[in-house]
Amino acid sequence: MGLFTFGNTNTAVGVDIGTSAVKIVQLKKSPSGPELVNYGMMPLPPDAMTEGAVGDPQSVSAVIKDIMKSRKIKPERTFVSISGQNVIMRFTKLPVMSPEELEQTVRIEAEQYVPYAIDEVSITHAVLSTVDEEEDGGGKYSILLVVAQKDLVNSYTDVLKSSGLTPEVVDVDTIAALNALEGSYLQTASTQEGGEVVAIIDAGARTTNISVLKSGILMFTRNIPIAGNNITEMIKDVMKQEFDQAESLKIEEAEVSIGDTGANEISEVVKTTVEELASEIRRSFDYFKAQSREPLIHRIILSGGSSNLKSFNTYISNELGVDVFMGNPLEGIAVTCPDPDELYDNLQQYTVAIGLALRGVVGD
Ligand SMILES: Nc1ncnc2c1ncn2[C@@H]1O[C@H](COP(=O)(O)OP(=O)(O)OP(=O)(O)O)[C@@H](O)[C@H]1O
Ligand SMILES: [Mg+2]
Repeated sequence: MGLFTFGNTNTAVGVDIGTSAVKIVQLKKSPSGPELVNYGMMPLPPDAMTEGAVGDPQSVSAVIKDIMKSRKIKPERTFVSISGQNVIMRFTKLPVMSPEELEQTVRIEAEQYVPYAIDEVSITHAVLSTVDEEEDGGGKYSILLVVAQKDLVNSYTDVLKSSGLTPEVVDVDTIAALNALEGSYLQTASTQEGGEVVAIIDAGARTTNISVLKSGILMFTRNIPIAGNNITEMIKDVMKQEFDQAESLKIEEAEVSIGDTGANEISEVVKTTVEELASEIRRSFDYFKAQSREPLIHRIILSGGSSNLKSFNTYISNELGVDVFMGNPLEGIAVTCPDPDELYDNLQQYTVAIGLALRGVVGD
């Protein structure tokens, strides 16, 4: 060991740069499983992230550094994510082949989905499952293709580098959330005959990501550009408040009204946006059901800051006729950091950061 050690390779840092805030989680590998040893969150100024891309690198970097410094988080193996709204994700089936062949075939396959020059994008894939297709005798891979513009990926890597961190992996927030919630959606996966169908809904500040899994295998994913900021904007406009005041009113006083009568005036205002979101979720579910010929979604798991909106879970459950549960991204993780109160209070917002850090401490 040298005089200067840059962190401990047994730990990994997940950095989620969301529209509203940066969330950082540090996990440590231990014989009994992952331990959460450090965490921190700080808000971003309004234009720091624009449409899910780094709008103002200086202020994003300043916030990352601020969290690292105040929480005494050392540079470690780092995992970051880009927003699902800026990537193209497509499902496809390909014959079973060698990893090298797969790599090439995936590129060719991806070209048809890419509206940009192929050398301007980075293409990755994940084999979700191998299915037996008896008609032609061979097995098939069910593949998720992920395509992102290189410039976008680089803007995240650059902002981390200027904060003193070198990301090992650039993931997608949607996928990182699924990684963190595995314990939540696999819990009862075997209880439904033919496999349980679970929808994960990550409601953030700018987007709501919907993913549907059957028996733990991803089958559908979509981004809806309606989330917490739309609710705050609505309160701001109707109640003639500043954004920050509207945000506080939403968190402290708003409650999605169930039935015809609202709890108060803000609840009525909030309901307009939540109704819109619920009908977009229904549209996605209908599309998924038609495509996959799955008649039912058995469960919804909620995540993201906006899932904390009072009565949001009951409203979604009533509107969609599906049982709703809050996700637990700490399933199987021991919390050993000092002062974990703020972590538990805002747990839904840490889901993506936890899923990212898990990449560095699980497996191998
Ligand atoms: N208790 C609460 N009640 C209502 N809304 C809340 C509460 N706590 C947080 N939020 C909302 O959650 C949102 C932030 O959630 P989150 O951190 O998951 O989003 P983000 O990752 O910054 O955004 P995105 O993923 O869309 O880029 C904000 O709109 C915030 O107002
Ligand atoms: Mg987010």
